[in-house]
Amino acid sequence: MGRFSEKLGRAGVAITFRDVILLPGLAEVEPAEVDISTRVSKNHRLNIPFVSSPMDTVTESEMAIAMAREGGLGVLHRNCSVEEQVEMAKRVKRAEALIIRDVVTVSPDQTVAEAVEIMRSHQISGLPVVEGKKLVGIITGRDVRFAEGGLRVREVMTKDVITAGEDIDIEKAKEILHRHRIEKLPIVSESGELRGLITFKDISLRGKYPNAVRDKDGQLLCAAAISPFDVERAKKLDKYVDILVTDVAHFHNVRVIQATKRLISEISADLIVGNIGTYEATVDVITSIEGVAGLRVGVGSGSICVTSEVTKAGAPTLFAVSQVADALADHGCDIPIIADGGVRGPGGAAPALAAGASAVMAGNLFARCKEAPGTLMAIGGRYYKQYRGMGSPSAMAKRYSLDRYSIPAKGIAEGVEGWVPYRGEVSTVLRELCYGLRAAMGYAGARNIRDLWEKGRFGLLTSAGVEETKPHDILLPSETVERF
Ligand code: XMP
Repeated sequence: MGRFSEKLGRAGVAITFRDVILLPGLAEVEPAEVDISTRVSKNHRLNIPFVSSPMDTVTESEMAIAMAREGGLGVLHRNCSVEEQVEMAKRVKRAEALIIRDVVTVSPDQTVAEAVEIMRSHQISGLPVVEGKKLVGIITGRDVRFAEGGLRVREVMTKDVITAGEDIDIEKAKEILHRHRIEKLPIVSESGELRGLITFKDISLRGKYPNAVRDKDGQLLCAAAISPFDVERAKKLDKYVDILVTDVAHFHNVRVIQATKRLISEISADLIVGNIGTYEATVDVITSIEGVAGLRVGVGSGSICVTSEVTKAGAPTLFAVSQVADALADHGCDIPIIADGGVRGPGGAAPALAAGASAVMAGNLFARCKEAPGTLMAIGGRYYKQYRGMGSPSAMAKRYSLDRYSIPAKGIAEGVEGWVPYRGEVSTVLRELCYGLRAAMGYAGARNIRDLWEKGRFGLLTSAGVEETKPHDILLPSETVERF
């Protein structure tokens, strides 16, 4: 054992976002030309480097759909039953597709009333009619509007269905829908079996969200949080999502690593693991688990965390990212890092990326949005949304994600709950984040994220510097409201 005084003397600085500033560099491109697309896991790219946290006041299907449409990613939380989480994933995947594969159909012998009920419960406007697997007609809202409920579907359906083969592309589909003034185009095999459905709605959504990230079937990219100890949940979600993300407060733990080793062989989705925060944790993870597709990095920096306050243990996100990035480089590993926790705006995202991250995960920034599941409330004439840590007493009361924390931690809260100012749609928040990030990268002289890794340089701020880099010597309107 070494000398304790030396151990204290060797303490390094665990630098945080507020300690640093990104130094300006020679800019060769304008901010608008900066490319902020990135890799979030080994096999998946995003058009913007933002990911919403798996927290029950941040990411359910509505947030995941909105994030993917804007080019980012939502990670569905796991503080619910497996069935509820799978349903969320299905909703994301159903939100849009070029070819819908699990088509809702009706048989010609069912009644019109039954067909209407199927359309209503699935919130769709038409159904292919199949006998066995063979397409025999199509029935839409128009066909049933004035038909009696007791009639059979075969009596009111359109029999001459316009169809296409499986090799159809988006341009050809658009042309057929337009030429025949139809909204749905069933895809059939050579023998006339129904193989899928293309809808006008899905095609028009592609024009509306040109930056969206999609899988090979044209469905929105989706990720979900899991526990390494819950193989059944992971296997069920694996059928629907592209990426699974372990949701463990301290991943650098022998039992957790062993469980993940077993889990990874059972799933086909990319697996992002974490949270970790040190060089040593990275080495242990990459040498023990084969096939890790991403690392979730940062311990105790989240805006709702009391982990570091309660335990005096943690690895601030900025420091943690640099540690993990170095360990990966030293071991020749090309695994994307997701900086998680403490990012308060573009000013946090840029340093996190400059320190070696490929993407940024945030809870607080997105809990403020309309698409977040938390309740909206008016306090003192302003709107706020509920936001809580997954280790807060009320989140832990739901018990599903209790194993995020170690056994003694189950008895003490590691998170708080409260309110964040309401900011409207997530698209607005993301737009501001992206403008800010592009501007920051412009100042740093980086044309893309890889370039930022090379060119981004940090300055360390003193406490005087922290004050000076904020507006000062002026009474701001928000303060005026508060003072008078
Ligand atoms: P921000 O700063 O965006 O951080 O609010 C979100 C991240 O914080 C983590 N998280 C927690 N950490 N206690 C913690 O120590 C908690 O109760 C808790 N809940 C979430 C998580 O990594 C998330 O992405």
